[in-house]
Amino acid sequence: MDLGIEFKAGVPLRRQLEHALRVAIRSGRLVSGSVLPSSRDLAEELGVSRGVVVDSYAQLATEGYLSARRGSGTRVASLSQPGGPPARRQVLPPQHYRYDLRPGQADYHAFPRDRWKAALLRALRELPDRRLGYANHRGVPELRNALAGYLARARGVVVEPEHVVVCCAASQGLTALWHVLRGRGARRVAVEDPGWRWQRFTAEHAGLEAVPIRVDADGLVVAELAAAGVDAVVLTPAHQYPTGVVMTPERRGALIAWARERQALIIEDDYDVEYRFDRDPMASLQGLAPDLVAFVGTTSKTLAPALRLAWIVPPSHLIDDVETEFLVTGVTPPTIDQIALAAFIEDAALERHLRSMRRRYRAKRDLLIGALGRHLPEVRVSGTAAGLHLFARLPDGVDEHATAMRARRSGVGVHEVHRHCTTLAPSPPALLLGYALPTESELAAATRLLADAVYPSLSGSGSGRSAISLASRVSESSRSCVVTTSASARRTAASSRARNSVSAWVRAATSRSRSMMARSRSSCRFWASRISGAAYAAWVEKARLSRMNG
Ligand SMILES: Cc1ncc(COP(=O)(O)O)c(C=O)c1O
Repeated sequence: MDLGIEFKAGVPLRRQLEHALRVAIRSGRLVSGSVLPSSRDLAEELGVSRGVVVDSYAQLATEGYLSARRGSGTRVASLSQPGGPPARRQVLPPQHYRYDLRPGQADYHAFPRDRWKAALLRALRELPDRRLGYANHRGVPELRNALAGYLARARGVVVEPEHVVVCCAASQGLTALWHVLRGRGARRVAVEDPGWRWQRFTAEHAGLEAVPIRVDADGLVVAELAAAGVDAVVLTPAHQYPTGVVMTPERRGALIAWARERQALIIEDDYDVEYRFDRDPMASLQGLAPDLVAFVGTTSKTLAPALRLAWIVPPSHLIDDVETEFLVTGVTPPTIDQIALAAFIEDAALERHLRSMRRRYRAKRDLLIGALGRHLPEVRVSGTAAGLHLFARLPDGVDEHATAMRARRSGVGVHEVHRHCTTLAPSPPALLLGYALPTESELAAATRLLADAVYPSLSGSGSGRSAISLASRVSESSRSCVVTTSASARRTAASSRARNSVSAWVRAATSRSRSMMARSRSSCRFWASRISGAAYAAWVEKARLSRMNG
């Protein structure tokens, strides 16, 4: 019997033989019912003692691979899964993009490894043995104390340490709150539209109906809550995800009035508000109505999602129920990590890190906005006052999903609004562009590729696209309109002439020769009109109409 076995030194022979037999049976090389050689014959064939084979047969009989009946020898038993083992499936590494502009990521290159390591080592060194047992399900006291101070200071949260519940993620916090509400009889809850998909997923997972409520330029449209008949609402008031809108004070007031009248719960997801660039972040909604608002925060944006550390500050009447959720599931962050985060906050390392990251993110944000302005001036950028991503509204008629697919194929990871967010209300095509993770030069390169993805008819003719960008800005500023030529003429795409005219324009701009600038500008415009595609023609027409309409 060929088991293909080559005995290795250092591993007991019996274990090696058992393994070889198991593999042969699972793979079907030894079919069920077939008779195995006698222990004496196999021992001789393999050059091992008979006892090794006898013991192996006995072990495999106990495991159900073999059956031994007196008088009929040892046979392969029939396994419940004939046909061999299921093919071994590889665990694939996560997908990586050369230029990763997917939103929701922090700059992991800037993670404060040394300080975090020091905090972890200190926690490990100083933690008394008895505290290696089960911790309080609301979190360790050190972290709850530290968070209460930090949240009051940085986010205007009204909080005592005993109100803080530590958890592994904002999404886990939402799930716990939804379960508590469901247990108290809630059936319908409101989520933002467009909104972070996990608002909806977590609610539905807890058996609730998620009712999407529109978001406009002032934030969630609070007036629509009354008709929705909901018992709670989850929202991102300080930096709406994904639009980046900051909720106006009037809407905040109206929201609290609605919740008070309906005795509903407001869940404030404060996911990335620490990064507000133009002025201090707006203080939390929770500070205005601690009895109505459950505040949810996370380290996923300030430090890294890999830490899996987050927190909730529920209204005091819900705290016991929330704790029960964590008690029942037993899912709480590791004690050592909690103590490390407490030290990190108490030593002001978190606030120092935030200060330096604010500068870094602001520079990246500005770079991305600038690059988009140069390569895709038709794209309208918004939601840039805070956070780690921006909202890029594509020109009408551009296919959002096809654009994102093309971008991904060229190595640029982006998210499309209608695919990655809760969106029911009709809205124009848009992409979400995260700027935290890529380096500045990656952001610049990614924007060029993105422009090719938006206008695939022009890809390979980068200069032509630049000509269009320039020409469109030229035509904007001179308030004139590019006259588009026929499609066939455009398709002749004289990209080399476009390139020449762009170079001439740049040279003229550098030397500030007014007459040369004027000539090259009109030549840019001319060639742009010839090489653009239908999308460009449509855009120009729309620009003309909107200008005519004032
Ligand atoms: C609105 C919003 N809240 C929360 C989070 C992340 O929370 P966590 O990783 O703690 O679940 C994200 C992540 O992108 C988000 O977009």
